Amino acid sequence: MAEAIRQASASYSVFVGKGLLDSVGEIIQPRGRIFVISSNGLRRFAERIAHDIITIEEGEQHKTLATANEIVTQLLDRGAKRDSMAVVVGGGMIGDTAGFAASIFLRGIDLAHVPTTLLAQVDSSIGGKVAVNHERGKNLIGSFFPPRVVVSDTAVLDSLPPRELLSGMYEALKGGVIGDASLFEMLEKRSDVDLDTVVRKTIKVKAEIVSADEKEADLRRLLNYGHTIGHGIEAALQYRQLTHGEAVAWGIIAANAIGVRRGITSEAVRRRIDQAVRDWKPSPLPSLDASAVLAATEHDKKNTGSSRVMVFPREIGRCEVISGISDADLRYGLAAIGMGS
Ligand SMILES: NC(=O)c1ccc[n+]([C@@H]2O[C@H](COP(=O)([O-])OP(=O)(O)OC[C@H]3O[C@@H](n4cnc5c(N)ncnc54)[C@H](O)[C@@H]3O)[C@@H](O)[C@H]2O)c1
Repeated sequence: MAEAIRQASASYSVFVGKGLLDSVGEIIQPRGRIFVISSNGLRRFAERIAHDIITIEEGEQHKTLATANEIVTQLLDRGAKRDSMAVVVGGGMIGDTAGFAASIFLRGIDLAHVPTTLLAQVDSSIGGKVAVNHERGKNLIGSFFPPRVVVSDTAVLDSLPPRELLSGMYEALKGGVIGDASLFEMLEKRSDVDLDTVVRKTIKVKAEIVSADEKEADLRRLLNYGHTIGHGIEAALQYRQLTHGEAVAWGIIAANAIGVRRGITSEAVRRRIDQAVRDWKPSPLPSLDASAVLAATEHDKKNTGSSRVMVFPREIGRCEVISGISDADLRYGLAAIGMGS
């Protein structure tokens, strides 16, 4: 079954199901030759699509212009042309880096995402953002470059390390809180969690938001629920110790506390969401200074050039974007997750 995503600049389909990797060749309908881009560690998946594979090194430290340039060189060496298609097989790191390379090669060639982590299936492959890191910060060099098609084979998730699976699960929980109470309830119960359903429902929430609002305006900000503080935590930890999803999990709990303080979130809603997040057992928050996290959110604010904005739940499945969040609000949220000044 395919979910249609319609962004202002492009429409594409997202296919979700077990075993789809073997049908990628038929699903993607390339105009010319395909070039599969992946890593050595994921070669077993990439080879089910084609045997000639461009590989890059994994890890956030390799999400750079230099790696994107290497991909461009490989594409040139192998004779890629304007009508070629880049088929990118991997998690968000490979998706962002190779997707960015596809966006600049010959001013952009067709792109198919084949995400292999839960986070990439529910989040990074959807919405058309591709980027690499700069020495001054994450994702500072990038484009909006929607793919032609996304193929998510949920069977590949069987080999994901448990923490990587959980990282995506917190993003799915976020999706439930901002846009789908039935998704939240499935994850809240934790029994009978069907990954196909989780992926489909989470994609649908993101698809509805990015379809209505492709770039960073108000509606798209809903996707940042848990991310203001989550990003602050990640940056203060220099992107070590916690996965992105785990930082978001703690960011959600902190945001809920601020939501109650600001009179937007009820105690009952806060308790329910906090419990659901904690039941999925995010790794404990390393000891951190609240001031370090605050400083990191300040950097985030400078990048967006706007006043500090956060997202709070009104009810399960409906959130609101609120501006004018003060340092005192943030400190209150950080104290709720055990972080003193
Ligand atoms: N573009 C966006 O909208 C967007 C959104 C969220 C995150 N991101 C980016 O995504 C990146 C994080 O992505 P991620 O969480 O997928 O991590 P990742 O891509 O770094 O992958 C994590 C690890 O899982 C391994 N792996 C991947 N698939 C596997 C499988 N099926 N079985 C076993 N191991 C597998 C990888 O080799 C890697 O070691 C960050 O760079 C972040 O900035 C982008």
